[in-house]
Order: sequence, then C-alpha cells, then structure tokens
Amino acid sequence: MKMLIAYISKTGTTEEIARKIGEILKERARAGDVRDPDGAHIDVLPIADVQSALLKDYDRIILGSPVNGMKVLPEFKAFVEEKIAGSGKRVDLFIVSYMFGRGRKMWRNAISKEAERIRALAGASSVVIFGGRIAKALPGFARLIFGLPADLPLDQRDWAKIESWANGL
Ligand SMILES: Cc1cc2nc3c(=O)[nH]c(=O)nc-3n(C[C@H](O)[C@H](O)[C@H](O)COP(=O)(O)O)c2cc1C
Repeated sequence: MKMLIAYISKTGTTEEIARKIGEILKERARAGDVRDPDGAHIDVLPIADVQSALLKDYDRIILGSPVNGMKVLPEFKAFVEEKIAGSGKRVDLFIVSYMFGRGRKMWRNAISKEAERIRALAGASSVVIFGGRIAKALPGFARLIFGLPADLPLDQRDWAKIESWANGL
C-alpha cells in the first residue's frame, strides 16, 4: 500500500498537520496495523511537488489545505480539478480553519459548504475541518466581524482530534 499526504500551506500550520498525519500512519505501519502484507509506504509532499505521473503509484491520497477568505487556496482547488477529480483513487481531505470552531454561525456554515464543495469536486470519501493557527491577534474590528473572543488562543489546533482522525484512516 502506497499512501500520499499532499498539502499546501502558507504559514506552516497545514504542513505541520500533514507531517503529523504522516508520522501516525508510519507508526501504524511499523506496528503492523496495515491492510497490506507488504507494509505501507507513506510520502508527505507539498502539492507543488506532485506530478500527475507520480499520483498513479498511490493507492490512497490524503489532501490538506488551509482556508483563506472562507475558501481553500486557489492552487489547491486547481490541483483537485486538474489532478484528482475523476482519478478513481480513494481520497480523504482535511481543511484547516482558524475560526471554524469559534466564529459566527454564518462563517462556520460558509466553511462547511466550502469543505463539502471541495469534497464533491475531489470525489473524496471524507472531509474534516481542523482548527488552524494565526501568527498574531486579529484587530478588534475583525474579531467583531468574525465573532471571535479577544482571548482566543492563536493556535486552535486540536492534536487529539488530528491523531484520532489519522488513526481512523
Ligand atoms: C490571508 C489569510 C486569510 C485567512 N482567512 C481565513 C478564513 O477566511 N477563515 C478561517 O477560518 N481562517 C482564515 N485564516 C486563518 C487560516 O485558516 C489559518 O491561519 C491556517 O492555520 C493557515 O494555515 P497555513 O499555516 O497552512 O497557511 C486566514 C489566514 C490568512 C493568513
């Protein structure tokens, strides 16, 4: 079994999550928890390094993108359209959003809709939304618009949720 975890990341958050998922899958393979007697081979790569020819080798593909402006990054959408849609591969997605867990319902709904849109486009089996991280506190007007409390930690990642998702793949 060959598995690819491919990600795009502007500030490193999604990359760290992708690497964590890779570590968990590698650990599971080492422990013999693989559905393949030959053992699992797991690669973690930025989508920019993933050529169509390379994709053919993988049995399963896990893809991750952050949310910017309530959408996945345009490069991620293009990658899904050009290289994943219609591939017939088993695909699972993770989306990384700072405000999904705590923001106003209208933004949560917008992010959920975007996640479902990109899942359908990719023909993916599943999509999950993980909390993200921002580099510095948002100004007051932005917190008001997004419905975020002033004391919300900059890092919203829930590593237990990420581990549990990776263990269920
Ligand atoms: C320019 C910009 C726009 C963003 N827009 C959103 C957004 O619309 N909704 C959201 O939940 N988070 C938004 N975020 C926060 C990112 O989702 C969060 O920082 C994520 O962890 C970034 O992942 P990365 O480090 O892999 O780029 C934005 C961050 C930046 C820098």
